[in-house]
Amino acid sequence: MAGSWFETVAEAERRARRRLPRSVYGALVAGSEKGLTMADNLVAFGELGLAPHVAGQAEKRDQATTVMGQPVSLPVLLSPTGVQAVHPEAEVAVARAAAARGTAVGLSSFASKPIEEVVAANPKTFFQVYWSGTRERIAARLERARRAGAVGLIATLDWSFSNGRDWGSPRIPERLDLRTMLRFAPEVARRPRWLAAYLRTRSLPTLTVPNMAAPGEPAPTFFGAYGEWMQTPPPSWDDVAWLAEQWGGPFMVKGVMRLDDARRAADAGASAISVSNHGGNNLDGTPATIRALPAVAEAVGDRVEVLLDGGVRRGSDVVKALALGAKAVMIGRAYLWGLAANGQAGVENVLDLLRGGIDSALLGLGRASVNELTSGDVVVSEGFGRVLGRPGEPAP
Ligand SMILES: Cc1cc2nc3c(=O)[nH]c(=O)nc-3n(C[C@H](O)[C@H](O)[C@H](O)COP(=O)(O)O)c2cc1C
Repeated sequence: MAGSWFETVAEAERRARRRLPRSVYGALVAGSEKGLTMADNLVAFGELGLAPHVAGQAEKRDQATTVMGQPVSLPVLLSPTGVQAVHPEAEVAVARAAAARGTAVGLSSFASKPIEEVVAANPKTFFQVYWSGTRERIAARLERARRAGAVGLIATLDWSFSNGRDWGSPRIPERLDLRTMLRFAPEVARRPRWLAAYLRTRSLPTLTVPNMAAPGEPAPTFFGAYGEWMQTPPPSWDDVAWLAEQWGGPFMVKGVMRLDDARRAADAGASAISVSNHGGNNLDGTPATIRALPAVAEAVGDRVEVLLDGGVRRGSDVVKALALGAKAVMIGRAYLWGLAANGQAGVENVLDLLRGGIDSALLGLGRASVNELTSGDVVVSEGFGRVLGRPGEPAP
């Protein structure tokens, strides 16, 4: 659509805010409690400087790399997000956008679209699981994902069910029946473009999570699935090793912040980790991921692929993360804002902005490839880093 291009992720967010009903926008903001971690994810990138050259730079710059065995055309993947009601095409639009731009996508267990449709849109799909339900039920989900053609598994292990947000949690209904629709009518009426997009597809958000259904069962509601997860005892490292073995292919542990956990994830069979604090939606007070990255990468970088997610909003953020030890990054809110602003084209727009930003940072830094970045390319002030999990600290 003409005029729908945006020049920064910040502008995409402004448009998303104008377009989405208040509750849906709030569910994307999502940061827990006081929002300290969510804010630090952003602030910390701003504290890092870049060290540009003025002559002798490379004429052409290369961004291609591989993650969990998948070649990607830029070091940016789309992180799994279990978000409902942003756009009628939801995760399928996100997967198509990623495919169009040559990168991979993580599909949340709490997504609104079935894995089969998402893999059809992008064969480079990693399925994401939480430790929820019995081993038998988890194994059935993995089997379905495998049969659908998912090429990797992401186990997100950092959720601690924190609740309460100082800024006020959005209202999320269990399902959209007539009563709920009437209750939400005032905020939806103020967002006619969002409603029109759904009406054009003759559907309304179902608020169900089809990938959590047991074989032969209907898709549970988000809250139904969340309840099962809350009642499941947290996984042990043996459970993590069991997951890796059950999957038997590329396996990422997402949510690692401590170097002792990073080592345990590698011991348990992870082929990749993502240094992540769930975008600040989880245990508030956890430091920014970019502060924790260098120590984690140093501890395990030769054993597993190290990714980072949290706070990436521009190409130079990606370059900073790569310079400090990440092989690639994953983005969450950045593409959700793009999706809300302009559907699939909006997600492509975000990926194009990041690609352009990475390219100009590489040019400035005199690097011909993302693989050449080193810590000397960034200016890190004293006290910036955080080392979580020093040797000798007792394991839980
Ligand atoms: C609204 C929302 C929903 C999310 N849902 C999931 C999820 O279902 N599974 C998961 O592994 N991570 C989930 N995440 C975390 C993202 O995968 C990622 O770690 C985070 O968004 C990165 O931070 P950023 O948003 O600053 O890029 C979610 C994040 C947001 C903002």
